[in-house]
Amino acid sequence: MNDARIKPSTAEPAIRVVMMPRDMNAAQTIFGGVLLSYIDQAGFVEARRQSPRRYVTVSMQQVEFHQPVFVGDIVSFRCTTERIGRTSITVRVSVMAQRFEGGQDIHVTDAVVVFVAIDDECNPISILDDA
Ligand SMILES: CC(C)(COP(=O)(O)OP(=O)(O)OC[C@H]1O[C@@H](n2cnc3c(N)ncnc32)[C@H](O)[C@@H]1OP(=O)(O)O)[C@@H](O)C(=O)NCCC(=O)NCCS
Repeated sequence: MNDARIKPSTAEPAIRVVMMPRDMNAAQTIFGGVLLSYIDQAGFVEARRQSPRRYVTVSMQQVEFHQPVFVGDIVSFRCTTERIGRTSITVRVSVMAQRFEGGQDIHVTDAVVVFVAIDDECNPISILDDA
């Protein structure tokens, strides 16, 4: 979206994580819920980069895992802010796994997460001072 208030994406991922044996399910791949948690954290890092508010996650769009992730993979979570509303911010998180074996980069999923800026009483507040 062409919104001058949105800071451009960074070249670096918001977070990068090594998958550990504790993250593995019985099928020897990584639990989807573990990745969802990192998606949430990565989106939060991006929301904070846009504007340093207190945020809660209000929604996460349907997430489809296209490829499995394995122990030892290095998983990168790249973020793009798609929209800044009055109190909400919409972040797209693109997940890539670098294979432990071979080192190739695999696209795992994209997720769209919406965060809401809140005050100390958990009431929504404006994200940008001029919003
Ligand atoms: C987030 C929360 C404060 C919003 O409260 P609310 O009374 O719905 O607030 P509003 O109706 O004023 O909406 C606030 C913003 O959220 C957006 N929003 C609300 N529900 C949404 C949804 N399901 N999907 C996307 N955006 C949503 C609104 O569009 C609005 O955005 P805008 O100001 O940029 O236009 C409240 O729902 C809440 O506390 N939820 C729990 C959050 C939480 O704890 N998450 C962690 C998981 S436990």
